[in-house]
Amino acid sequence: MSAHGVPPSATVTIRPATEADLEAITRIYNDAGVGTTASYDLEPVSVDERREWLERHTSSNHPVLVAVADGEVLGFAGYGSFRDKAGYGQTVEHSVYVADGARALGVGRMLMLALIDRARGDGIHVMVGVLDADNDASVAFHRKLGFVEVGRMPQVGRKFDRWLDALLMQLTFPADGNELRTQ
Ligand SMILES: CC(C)(COP(=O)(O)OP(=O)(O)OC[C@H]1O[C@@H](n2cnc3c(N)ncnc32)[C@H](O)[C@@H]1OP(=O)(O)O)[C@@H](O)C(=O)NCCC(=O)NCCS
Repeated sequence: MSAHGVPPSATVTIRPATEADLEAITRIYNDAGVGTTASYDLEPVSVDERREWLERHTSSNHPVLVAVADGEVLGFAGYGSFRDKAGYGQTVEHSVYVADGARALGVGRMLMLALIDRARGDGIHVMVGVLDADNDASVAFHRKLGFVEVGRMPQVGRKFDRWLDALLMQLTFPADGNELRTQ
């Protein structure tokens, strides 16, 4: 059993996030992202903030998925607009967070594969991850999923009294899949 209480044999289900998942999503995000440099948020977010975040995604038809085992949320992933100009419409920026203790069990991969499937179905051409350049686990994780490093922005973040470099990693879907939905 992992530190998070996930038995190795537990069946993990990926499904769209609901209001009932918000407390777990908030806790995971605050632990995994705000207490580290994985996210450049400086203060813990509230459940209400995450509610607005979920509503923004839902109302713009962007997915937020959760991984659940034995009724417990182990992680979440979602994507939203990369930039708001219409010409960026087939590019999205995603995020993925797995609870400490539920990592290295394949949960992040399951979330991302489901998100990638959804992106393909939505006619997305490029998925972008904006990572902290020193987040070795996330860099390795994204590489494993086929994301490639396309840019590094030195010192665009500041947290814990130091400058942070952002690393841009992207997954570009083959033109074939994209052309199915290109007008
Ligand atoms: C990055 C993160 C989402 C990965 O999720 P995970 O469930 O632990 O990853 P998985 O078990 O699905 O791993 C999939 C692959 O990623 C790679 N990987 C994952 N964690 C890794 C690590 N710590 N070091 C090296 N490679 C790693 C491995 O290649 C792994 O494949 P393998 O099991 O065949 O070796 C998770 O570590 C996390 O939530 N971290 C904190 C928050 C964060 O950094 N989020 C990303 C913000 S950009």
